[in-house]
Amino acid sequence: MHTLILTADDVHRVVRHVGLDAFMDALIERLRTAISGFDGEATVIPVRSGFAYSEPAEGLIEWMPCFRPGDHVVLKVVGYHPSNGRRNGLPTVISTVSAYDATSGHLKALADATLLTALRTGAASAVASDVLVRADARTVGLIGAGAQAVTQLHALTRVRSIERVLYFDSDPAASASFADRVASFASDVSLHAVSADEVVEGSDIVCTATSVGVGEGPVFGDVEPRPWCHFNAVGSDFPGKVEIPLSLLERSLVCPDFRLQAVAEGECQQLDPDSIGPSVTEVVRNAGLYMGAQESLTVFDSTGWALEDDVAMGLLAELAESLGLGMHLPIEAVVGDALNPYDFATAYAQPVEP
Ligand SMILES: NC(=O)c1ccc[n+]([C@@H]2O[C@H](COP(=O)([O-])OP(=O)(O)OC[C@H]3O[C@@H](n4cnc5c(N)ncnc54)[C@H](O)[C@@H]3O)[C@@H](O)[C@H]2O)c1
Repeated sequence: MHTLILTADDVHRVVRHVGLDAFMDALIERLRTAISGFDGEATVIPVRSGFAYSEPAEGLIEWMPCFRPGDHVVLKVVGYHPSNGRRNGLPTVISTVSAYDATSGHLKALADATLLTALRTGAASAVASDVLVRADARTVGLIGAGAQAVTQLHALTRVRSIERVLYFDSDPAASASFADRVASFASDVSLHAVSADEVVEGSDIVCTATSVGVGEGPVFGDVEPRPWCHFNAVGSDFPGKVEIPLSLLERSLVCPDFRLQAVAEGECQQLDPDSIGPSVTEVVRNAGLYMGAQESLTVFDSTGWALEDDVAMGLLAELAESLGLGMHLPIEAVVGDALNPYDFATAYAQPVEP
């Protein structure tokens, strides 16, 4: 009845021990396998739910469960507070993830998931891009140069030979610090701060990962991308929050991660249901077929899928156990009689100081 506790420091130690590239590669491979093999009967993932509020600042706390019957439940809780950096010196997205034994209810593991969320979101874009992006793609465009942009770029460098990055952020401070934040893995990539429209016009792959407000999108104009451009739309993950112009979606093959969620929160909100393309599962499962779409406009509508958290938590816990990292705490330890919740009173006959 012990719970594996992995603090942010433990998670960082695991990733540093394995190596950033190796960890990302392992995540991409596991995610590719999980996405292509996804069976909605065998793995139950409801549309996420949460609380959104505007006081004292715009924010959202939501929960994303993934149930593997007879085995486990992984539950990620994620906070989205776009003013966190300015107000609290914290990331916009903060998260924790827990794993429960689905035969007993026991809490098996609890981990910080802030880095894990960024890694798995990058890995998901890499999996979709690996099918839908031309092999000779060299230029990545980033609109929004915050935390997710770092792992979007890192993940894409693992599946394509990226030489050039065009980026735009509406916050000059985020633009100014971007080169330093990607230096550890993109030192031989040339980085250019340009306008949002120039990002779209000059890139082979574009990732939108902004904290644009509800009703304030899209984040670029009605410009002409390269005919083969692929978009990873990462920041559209709440009702009314969109990043891609409708005119572009209508000309593109739009592939949602999780269709039910994407029509409520993603770019698919903007589309007639008949205009929505195949899910990322269909695309990855039939990669040979969909590679034909590399020559045309495509969009991965990434709202964030609990399957990704299940895969990331599985990899993290496995590596942490093998490296002996983290603490094992008896949070739920039962003393004595399972039928007697007051058994502790007799087990500890002497009164204790509070
Ligand atoms: N799809 C997923 O699985 C997934 C996972 C994590 C986060 N997200 C979403 O990704 C987005 C980015 O998250 P983050 O952690 O990088 O946040 P962040 O705050 O670190 O970065 C967001 C950046 O977007 C910039 N921005 C805001 N409006 C803009 C605009 N109109 N044009 C250009 N830049 C703009 C901000 O200045 C900021 O630097 C959020 O909307 C978040 O909800 C999605």
